[in-house]
Order: sequence, then structure tokens, then C-alpha cells
Amino acid sequence: MDEAAGFCLRKQDVISCMFSSWYRKLKHLTMESVIIPLPPEFIHYLNSDGIVLPSGHFETKGKREETEDDSWDSSSDGETTHNTVWEQPQFAALHKKIQQTIDYLGGIVFPKLNWSSPLDAKWISSNGTLQCCRPSDIYLLLKSSNRVAHDLSKAFRSCTDYDQCDEPPGGFQLVLRQWVDIIPGMEFRCFVKDSMLIAVCQRDYTTFYNHLVLHQDELMIEIEEYYRRHILSKFSLRHYVFDIYRNYRNSYMLIDFNPFSSITEPLLFTWEELTDILTPESTDPQHPMFRFLTSDAGIQPNKDAYSRLPIDVVDLSTGEDIAKFIDLFKKETWQQDDNSDDEASEQAATLQ
Ligand SMILES: Nc1ncnc2c1ncn2[C@@H]1O[C@H](COP(=O)(O)OP(=O)(O)O)[C@@H](O)[C@H]1O
Ligand SMILES: [Mg+2]
Repeated sequence: MDEAAGFCLRKQDVISCMFSSWYRKLKHLTMESVIIPLPPEFIHYLNSDGIVLPSGHFETKGKREETEDDSWDSSSDGETTHNTVWEQPQFAALHKKIQQTIDYLGGIVFPKLNWSSPLDAKWISSNGTLQCCRPSDIYLLLKSSNRVAHDLSKAFRSCTDYDQCDEPPGGFQLVLRQWVDIIPGMEFRCFVKDSMLIAVCQRDYTTFYNHLVLHQDELMIEIEEYYRRHILSKFSLRHYVFDIYRNYRNSYMLIDFNPFSSITEPLLFTWEELTDILTPESTDPQHPMFRFLTSDAGIQPNKDAYSRLPIDVVDLSTGEDIAKFIDLFKKETWQQDDNSDDEASEQAATLQ
């Protein structure tokens, strides 16, 4: 039971939000994407410890040139004519398919698995974004991400009908999406309950955007219109969450679907509000609640920063784990005591 949300999350809800479940039908609303089935060896590679493959499989000798192509070179000593040596014969077909897809999608792609992108790992990429120009960029991000690991082993764990099977129907897939430069202040998360749009929130909820204050009414009219025209009756669930982006041409682009459940971030709402307080009867269905920051006071820390710090530090900063704080405090105190003992014995030694 998904207690925080007060809603039962079923496997089918999670499956309906999987990228391949909705993309074909709603392709015209979103950026062009390609779904690549992942072979078991690659899943094994993602699940194995360490960021790089064991030596002999994945070996980097120096920096790669931007202009090189990523084709395999099977010269006898394993050296390629490039600066980088790649020896992953078991993924050769997949590697080639990924390279071809990157080329097809214009040279820069956004990667994700069946549900999640490696957002938590973007700090590890060379430019701190999820932009990928080469297969190796994708491998590094996927290997470094806890969100991706969750897709691989825990996607159905919170479902009431979880049956010990963690593999999605159709298997694990890599989704490569054409890269779009998204302006964070123009992305919105929309909550649908009983097929009614009950709430909308700025997607980047850690920043104050004055344009949201100024244009809130127009934005809500546009988003409701978009929902009625393009999403309502096209998506298979009655309760769900979707993200959209308003681009510079003032048109909207669908980004993703998520379950109406506490496994999805409620951003500036809480799941209690979304499930109990905001009902289609209690809110005017013509006017879903729009929540955005109204000033830059009380801005929340950016969640991206969490994945750049050791988890202990994050727990301390959020006050989530007071026991850790006490341990750390004790350790500091003992260390100081130890140091003063050392100083005392040093002084004693010099006096002798
Ligand atoms: N094709 C893309 N190009 C650039 N940024 C993207 C693209 N697709 C998504 N994003 C950004 O990444 C965020 C997460 O994408 P999403 O597909 O929803 O992954 P997740 O389900 O893991 O959150 C989006 O909210 C959006 O800001
Ligand atoms: Mg998503």
C-alpha cells in the first residue's frame, strides 16, 4: 500500500507510465525519441559494482577527440586508431545502435531507462548536464545513477500487487530523446485525479520565477486547454501526473508521465493535499490549483546538490538523521579530548 498517498499503486499504473507504453500514441506531442531494447549482458553490466567495467572490457587511455566516430576497431592488439580503447565485444551491436541513434537524433540526446533518467548523476558528466554525444557518455551516466538502479530492481516494489518480478513487460529499454534546451521556469507538473486536472506546480520548485507570478492566469488557461485537448481521454489511467514544457514559441511539449502516488515528487504540494484535500468536487475543475513560489524568501535547496554530497552530510543538513549528528558531535568531542590528552602527554614528556 502506498500509504503516504493514500492510494493503492498497482503494477498496471506503473506500467502505463513507462515510456514505451505511451510514446507511440502521443508521439506527436513530445520530442522525437528512440527506444532501444537492452540485452541481459548490458543489464548485468549496469547492475555490477563499479563505474567502469573490469579491466580488459572498458579501458580509457587518454581523452577522446570530439570529432571521432565511436565505431569499434578490432585491431589485433586491441588498440584503436583513436586515443581511446574500447573493448566491449559483448555490447558491440548495442553500442553501434546507440551511436546510430545519436546521429539520427541530431548528435545530442537525453538518455533514460523505462521510467527514469540519470538526473542524480549529471554532476559526473563533463558539462554537468544529461547531454550525451557519445555512447560512453550514456554508459557513465547510467552506471552512476541511483534512479536508474531503481528502475532496474525496484520499479514495482511499492505496488500492492507486487509479485516478486522486477522486470517490466517488454524488458528493460534505453530511451534516447532528441535534446531540447529546456528553460526550467517554463516546465510544469500537472496532477490528474479522477480524470480531472486538480493541481499544477512549477517543475523547478527551488527557484523563484517572477514570470509565473505575472502570467499565472494565462498559464493556467493554456495548461487546462492543453490537458483537455491533448491528454484527457488519450492516457489510459484515471489518476496520474504529467510534466509539460512551454517553449519559446508558446506551444507546449509533453515531457513525461508518472504515477499518481508518493513515488512521484509532489514538489510544492504534499501527497496528503493531493489525495485528501484537493478533490475534484472541492476544487473548481475549471480552475485547478496552481502553486508556484511567490517570492525568493524561503527558497528550498536544489535537490541536485544532494547527489553531489555524501549522504551523511545531506541527512545532517536536512535534519533527517539526528542520531548521525550526535555521533558526529561525539566523534568531534572525543577527537578534541584525544588531542588534548596527546598534548598533555607531550608536555609531560618534555618535562621529564
Ligand atoms: N529531451 C530532453 N532534452 C533536455 N532535457 C530534457 C529532455 N527530456 C527531459 N528533460 C529534462 O529532464 C527532466 C527529467 O526528465 P524525465 O524524462 O521526466 O525523467 P525522470 O522521469 O527521471 O524525471 C525533465 O523534467 C526535463 O527538465
Ligand atoms: Mg519522469
